Amino acid sequence: MIVSLAKAAEHVLRLKPIGVIHSPFLVASGTPIQPRAARGAAGAVTILPAFVPGLKDLDGFDRIWLIYWFHHAHYDPSRLIVIPFLDDLPRGVFATRAPTRPNVIGLSAVRLVSVRGNELHIRNVDILDGTPLLDIKPYVPQFDSFAVARCGWLQRRKLGRKTADWSFELHESAGRHKARRESGRSFNRRR
Ligand SMILES: C[S@@+](CC[C@H](N)C(=O)[O-])C[C@H]1O[C@@H](n2cnc3c(N)ncnc32)[C@H](O)[C@@H]1O
Repeated sequence: MIVSLAKAAEHVLRLKPIGVIHSPFLVASGTPIQPRAARGAAGAVTILPAFVPGLKDLDGFDRIWLIYWFHHAHYDPSRLIVIPFLDDLPRGVFATRAPTRPNVIGLSAVRLVSVRGNELHIRNVDILDGTPLLDIKPYVPQFDSFAVARCGWLQRRKLGRKTADWSFELHESAGRHKARRESGRSFNRRR
C-alpha cells in the first residue's frame, strides 16, 4: 500500500517520557558535544516505575543508546540551516547533530556503569540535566557500527572542540548565562 506524503504528514505523534536524565550540565554552553568528547562525565537515569520491568537484562550491555527530547532546544524553520559546532559553514540540519531540529530528538551512546532498581548509572554524558528520556536501546556493535567510505562534511574533521557554546541557545538565556559566566559565577557544572 502506498501512503501519501500528505497523509503521513497528518500524524500528530504523542510521546511520553519513560524517565529523566540527570547530568552535571545545567546549560548547553560548556556541555560536551558528543559522548566521545565527554570522557568521565558521569550521569544517571531515573526510570518511571511503570517501565522498570523493561530494564531486565540491560545490565549485560557496556553501552546503551539514550533517545531523548532536547527540552531546552527551540526550533524554528530558520534553523533548517545551521552552523554546526565542528564547522564554520552553514549545513542542512539533517546533515548535523544540532539540537535545534524539527523534532528535537537526541541520541547518545553512553557507557552503562550499573543498573540499580530504577536507576541507571552512566558515563560519557553529553546531555543536560533534567532531559526527558524517550527510549533506551542496547548499543550492539554488530548492528550499530559500520565501516564507511564517506562521512560528508565531517570527513576530515577531528573532534577538535569538545564542548558546546551558545550557538543553539535562545538569545535571552544565552545572554543570561553569558553574564553569569563573565561575573565569575558558576554557569554550568553543578557543584
Ligand atoms: C551536538 S548535541 C549531540 C547530542 C547527541 N549525541 C546527538 O547526536 O543527538 C549535544 C549538545 O546538545 C545540547 N543539549 C544537550 N541536552 C540538551 C537539552 N535537553 N536541551 C537542549 N540542548 C541540549 C548541549 O549543548 C550538548 O553539548
